[in-house]
Amino acid sequence: MESPGHTGGQSKLQPGSPADPTAFGKYLLLGMIARGGMAEVYRAKTRSASGILAADRLLAIKCMRPQLAKEARFVEMFIREGKLAVLLDNDSIVRTYEIGRIEGRYFIAMEYIGGKDLTQILRRCQESNQRIPVPHACYIAAKMSEGLHYAHTRADAEGRPLNIVNRDVSPSNVRISYEGDVKLLDFGIAQAMLKFTSEIGVLKGKFSYMSPEQIRGMPVDARTDVFSTGIILHEMLTTEKLFRGDTEFALMEKVRKADVPPPSKFNRRVPDALDKIVAKALARDLPDRYQSAKELSDDLHAFVTQYRYKPEEMTEFMRNLFRVDYQKEADEIASCQAATLDNEPEMSIESSLVVAEPTPPVGTMNPPPRDADKRTTGPREAIGRMPADDTSPTSVPPGDTGPASTPGPGSGDGFFSRLRKKFTK
Ligand SMILES: Nc1ncnc2c1ncn2[C@@H]1O[C@H](COP(=O)(O)OP(=O)(O)O)[C@@H](O)[C@H]1O
Ligand SMILES: [Mg+2]
Repeated sequence: MESPGHTGGQSKLQPGSPADPTAFGKYLLLGMIARGGMAEVYRAKTRSASGILAADRLLAIKCMRPQLAKEARFVEMFIREGKLAVLLDNDSIVRTYEIGRIEGRYFIAMEYIGGKDLTQILRRCQESNQRIPVPHACYIAAKMSEGLHYAHTRADAEGRPLNIVNRDVSPSNVRISYEGDVKLLDFGIAQAMLKFTSEIGVLKGKFSYMSPEQIRGMPVDARTDVFSTGIILHEMLTTEKLFRGDTEFALMEKVRKADVPPPSKFNRRVPDALDKIVAKALARDLPDRYQSAKELSDDLHAFVTQYRYKPEEMTEFMRNLFRVDYQKEADEIASCQAATLDNEPEMSIESSLVVAEPTPPVGTMNPPPRDADKRTTGPREAIGRMPADDTSPTSVPPGDTGPASTPGPGSGDGFFSRLRKKFTK
C-alpha cells in the first residue's frame, strides 16, 4: 500500500475530504487512507443515519479497483467471502457492515479503526530505536489469536463449521487503536485478493507472512494463521523482519524451510518460555505446531501474567509512540464527524447492496438469521436495485459455502504452482 498522496493508477473516485466530501451512494468519502494495487481505502460515513449506522459514525470503505469488477470469478469470490466477513462479530476483528457495489465499484464498508497498523508501528519503533515491550507484543499476539480462533470455529446457523481461515495475517492487516484495541483486518477477502493479485510486486510483501504449506500451495487450515501470527510475534519481539530474501524465490525458500532463530537472540528481554511459545507457533511441520489459535492465545495469556500487564497500558504505549499523529487524528475525526455535503440533494442512491450486516445491534452475539446467506438486501435497507445489464451478484448460489470449499491460492488454479515454476525455471 502506498501513501494517499500517490497518484499512479487510475481511479475515477474523488477521495473527498472533511471540508469537501464526495458522495458515494449512501456514503460520504472523507479522504483516502491508502491506495494499493487492488483497492483504495477511504474514511467515510453514511449520508444519514441508516440501520445500525449512526450518521456520525466513522467508517472505512475499501473500494476494489474497477478492473476487478470485470473478473467474474473475482466478483464471485469477493461476494462469497464477504458474506462470511459480515458474520464475524468479535472484539479482535474489524466489524464489516456491508459489501456492495456503487458506480460499478465493489466495496466493503467497515468500522473505522483509528490508530496505526503493525507495519507502521514496527517502522516507527525501528526509526526511533525502540522496542514494543515484551508484554505488549504478547498481548497483541494473544488478541490476534483470539480473533482468529473465533473465526476458525465460527459455525453457521445449523452448527456446521464455516472453516474460515484468514490466510493474510500480516502486519498491515493488524490495527492497534489509540484506545488499545487490537483488530484484524481483511477477514474473508484474502483469498479473492491473493488469487487476483497478479502483480508480483504486490504479492511479494505477502510471502513474508505465509506459512510453509501456503507457500507450497497445499491446502491450508487454521494452523496457517497460527504460523503467520508467530511470524508477527517474532517480528514484534525483535523489531526485525523474520523472512527476507533478495528475490521472491529466495524468500519463498526461507519460508519453506522455516528456520527460525529464537527471538532472545535479538532481544535479551525475551525469556526462554517465550522462545518456546514462538518456536511452537512457527513449527514448520504441522503436527509440531499449535493445533489451534486458542492454544497459542492461552499460552500467551498465561505467560503474560508474570508481568502484571494491564491492557490499558497499550493505550499509553500507542499515544506515546505517535504523539503528534494521535492529536492530528483526533482533530481529523472531529472534522469528519461534522462533515456534510453542501446542498445535500434528494438522496439518489445508485448502489447495489450485496450483503448487509446481519446482526444488529453491533456487539451482540446473536447467530445470523437462517437465511442470512440468501439475503441480497439488508434487513432494513433495500437500497437501490441491480441494473439489468449487470452481472448480478445475487446469482451466487446461497449454499455455496466459502473459503473452506474453495481451493486455496495455488491449489485450484495452480497460481502458486505457476509462480513457483516461473522462479525455478
Ligand atoms: N477499517 C479500517 N480502519 C482504518 N484503517 C484501515 C481499515 N482497513 C484498512 N485500513 C488501513 O488501510 C491501509 C490499506 O489497507 P489494505 O488495502 O488492506 O492494504 P494492505 O495490503 O497494505 O493490507 C492499511 O494501512 C490499513 O491499516
Ligand atoms: Mg489489508
